[in-house]
Amino acid sequence: DSTKLREIHDFLLSLAHRAGEIITKALPDSSGTGSKKNSADLVTEYDRAVENMISSSLKIKYPDYLFHGEETYSPENPLTDAPTFIVDPIDGTINFVHGFPYSCVSLGFAVNKEPVVGIVYNPFTKTLYSGIQGQGSFLNGDTRLPVKGANPEPLSGLTNALIAIEWGSERGGPNWDTKVRTFAHLGQTRENGGAMVRSMRSTGSAALNMCAVAEGTLDLYWEGGCWEWDVCAAWVILKEAGGIVVDGSPNEWEARLDGRKYLAIRGAPEAGQKELVEQFWSCIQ
Ligand code: IPD
Repeated sequence: DSTKLREIHDFLLSLAHRAGEIITKALPDSSGTGSKKNSADLVTEYDRAVENMISSSLKIKYPDYLFHGEETYSPENPLTDAPTFIVDPIDGTINFVHGFPYSCVSLGFAVNKEPVVGIVYNPFTKTLYSGIQGQGSFLNGDTRLPVKGANPEPLSGLTNALIAIEWGSERGGPNWDTKVRTFAHLGQTRENGGAMVRSMRSTGSAALNMCAVAEGTLDLYWEGGCWEWDVCAAWVILKEAGGIVVDGSPNEWEARLDGRKYLAIRGAPEAGQKELVEQFWSCIQ
């Protein structure tokens, strides 16, 4: 119920602040950094320490709920319908290692694979995004999302859009060519057959990209290859801000939390979210 979700939200918020202290005090260096599948997929001792702090605190406070975290995930334990905390201890690990101040802790709670509580906290800029299903989402606890006037233009199609895309850590495989061709198509002028969006950004954090869409400062975010812990918390924040998440592949209106392909559109119901989805899908090459 809504009181229970509020209680979970408050507890996750306290964990986000504790995580933020560990993250901002950390001094990541190459000796404590390892790569998982390639040199674009980093993990540090701090990712593990933060996840450990969060999972052990959650196990004491909510022993009946499952825990699903980036650093302890194994394919033998896929996401289920049970109430589950879905956590990325440091989203934007590459930024963290390089001192580029766009990393966050992403704390989500999902029931029936539907995100219902989300906290995304960037401790470097002290920016907090939070949301509870049915209770709205907020910037820094008190400013309702989307932020009024953050982007005064109505959502009016790809040509006027500022969008987020990511190279991600999958740098090969069957989806690589699609990604590269689509990025080129989005950027190219219309005279040359492209869609020419206004511009493209890569913050290096899936959660912060999706929260910027919730805020209204970005119009759209597309990525294939990231995971449920990258998007769970931001997903409820975006939905509560009137935004939508659909599948990153054309014609799949129902996005799955563990589907690993996401297309997020900002809240602007008066001005054609569905049209923008269709325009974007038609650009996937
Ligand atoms: C990564 C970031 C990045 C996205 C990758 C993710 P991590 O998460 O969210 O923006 O492009 O797909 O894996 O590894 O920094 O937690």
